[in-house]
Amino acid sequence: MIPDQIITSRTIIRLTTPEDLKAIYNWPSYPVPFTEYNMKNPLWKGKDGRYWWEQIDVPERVHYSVLLPETKEVIGLHAFVDIDRDKRIINNMGIRFRPDLCDKGFCTETLSVLFASVLDSGIQSIKLDVSAINPRAINCYKKCGMNIIGDFWIKHDGDPVDLKDPFWTPHLQHLKQEKDYWLRRHYLMEITKKHSDLS
Ligand SMILES: CC(C)(COP(=O)(O)OP(=O)(O)OC[C@H]1O[C@@H](n2cnc3c(N)ncnc32)[C@H](O)[C@@H]1OP(=O)(O)O)[C@@H](O)C(=O)NCCC(=O)NCCS
Repeated sequence: MIPDQIITSRTIIRLTTPEDLKAIYNWPSYPVPFTEYNMKNPLWKGKDGRYWWEQIDVPERVHYSVLLPETKEVIGLHAFVDIDRDKRIINNMGIRFRPDLCDKGFCTETLSVLFASVLDSGIQSIKLDVSAINPRAINCYKKCGMNIIGDFWIKHDGDPVDLKDPFWTPHLQHLKQEKDYWLRRHYLMEITKKHSDLS
């Protein structure tokens, strides 16, 4: 059984409620180059017209909210997506922390306890894919025990690539220019029960 609630030293992690979605909807935007992760990016709407993070009633998903214990503000969202309960695999995840609270270790703390708990509950493998031009996210997932197990290319739907801006220079190895769009590398990452036991 995946747990309903976990308390950490700084947060409460519990199943997402419809009330939480209203707070998340009003989060401010991420700065460039992260605007594609904005909660209201229409690209991330599902077939039913709802944003991916609103789909808390879909059976093969489990969504967690991360709250500050003092104020009960929702500062993070973590979705386990495409859960195959027969094979005991979670095939993907979605993660966002409130823009003003990124880079403060909340995700590392949250994923570490969620992974330990979920793998302990009988899940054998948790996977996700992440853009190679998002080293902050990759670094966080590695710190939580995930390993890169593959990569693939998809259309870059993020902030426009500006070759004159030195920001993009280290990322060019993960970008390929096509006629009128860019492709970018995504990494497939995984943590397994075995890995978690060893760590
Ligand atoms: C990605 C995200 C979930 C990570 O959560 P977080 O709470 O900010 O992450 P943490 O603070 O726990 O860890 C980030 C780590 O990356 C490091 N980091 C930050 N910027 C980095 C960069 N440009 N390159 C490499 N590492 C970087 C941080 O220093 C930190 O490592 P450290 O603790 O060893 O110093 C969060 O930043 C977020 O919501 N970002 C916007 C949406 C997004 O990118 N979602 C992920 C989609 S797969």
